[in-house]
Amino acid sequence: MYVVTGATGNTGRVVANRLLDQRKKVRVIGRSAERLQSFVARGAEGFVADISDQDALAKAFTGAEGVYAMVPPSMTSQDYRGDQRRASSAIAGALEQAGVKHAVVLSSVGADKESGTGPVVGLQEFENRLNRIIGLNVVHLRAGYFMENTLGQAGAIRAMGKTAGPLRGDLKLPLIAARDIGDAAAELLLGLDFSGKQTRELLGQRDLSMNEATSIIGKAIEKPELEYVQLPDAMMQPIFVQMGMSSNLAELILEMAQALNSGHMRALEPRSSRNTTPTSFETFVAEEFLAAYRGQSQAA
Ligand SMILES: NC(=O)c1ccc[n+]([C@@H]2O[C@H](COP(=O)([O-])OP(=O)(O)OC[C@H]3O[C@@H](n4cnc5c(N)ncnc54)[C@H](OP(=O)(O)O)[C@@H]3O)[C@@H](O)[C@H]2O)c1
Repeated sequence: MYVVTGATGNTGRVVANRLLDQRKKVRVIGRSAERLQSFVARGAEGFVADISDQDALAKAFTGAEGVYAMVPPSMTSQDYRGDQRRASSAIAGALEQAGVKHAVVLSSVGADKESGTGPVVGLQEFENRLNRIIGLNVVHLRAGYFMENTLGQAGAIRAMGKTAGPLRGDLKLPLIAARDIGDAAAELLLGLDFSGKQTRELLGQRDLSMNEATSIIGKAIEKPELEYVQLPDAMMQPIFVQMGMSSNLAELILEMAQALNSGHMRALEPRSSRNTTPTSFETFVAEEFLAAYRGQSQAA
């Protein structure tokens, strides 16, 4: 039996579905039975729990051969790092309590750094906390920059005729589709042949800059002249808040952007077949960005 946290999310739903495809027993965790229903319909057991509730998680983890563990983002929290700490501590305590032997964990490029990387500092602490659990075999998947982060650009294009953000336009980033992370995690869980405490970077299909990503989006939406503009933090902060983030998270995201721009936060592994994943940004745009963009255009 496997347990998947964040099962309705970008990565968790892929993990859960891949395991169900292989006819494995799966327990899916989320905050709402209704949102877990599609997995229950496929034979999974739904388990409603908050990620900060250690006792509930320990029950959910009991009997698991492997767990997919992630710290869910709390977009509107004014204590984002505190929420991360509470989630990390509950997940780690529950893994210990339930005596789980194998966990695959969602982390991030930059989780090697102790400070200056915004929300990723919380993932560094999560890794460290899990690494202290005796008897737990764990792989921390240090994922690159999610392609899904660009979905917010649909609104920017409509409002300003440009894409925009705090990142340097020419900065090459390992852009990865969340589905590729889910696939990699499911493969590790199905094999269960890892031991000790390991990190593994996942760097997407290739590195792309925001200028290049914008040009790919521009072609797909038939605006080949579409440009990316780097905006100063003072302009980005209210934009993030308008998009629904707390001011606290907006500040952390800006700190992370600075860390990326300066190279403080970067991939450590050379690109290889092991850390390269299949979904190109062109495929992501065709299959996911366009639907978001068209949905917003119709709503406008
Ligand atoms: N964005 C990036 O570029 C990037 C890069 C590297 C790593 N990361 C990390 O990736 C993670 C996000 O992964 P993701 O995109 O797969 O997640 P996600 O889609 O944002 O969320 C996962 C699920 O967590 C559940 N959830 C939220 N709050 C919860 C709570 N308090 N208790 C229990 N469940 C809760 C939600 O389901 P319900 O609403 O159904 O409960 C949600 O669907 C974060 O840790 C982030 O730091 C992100």
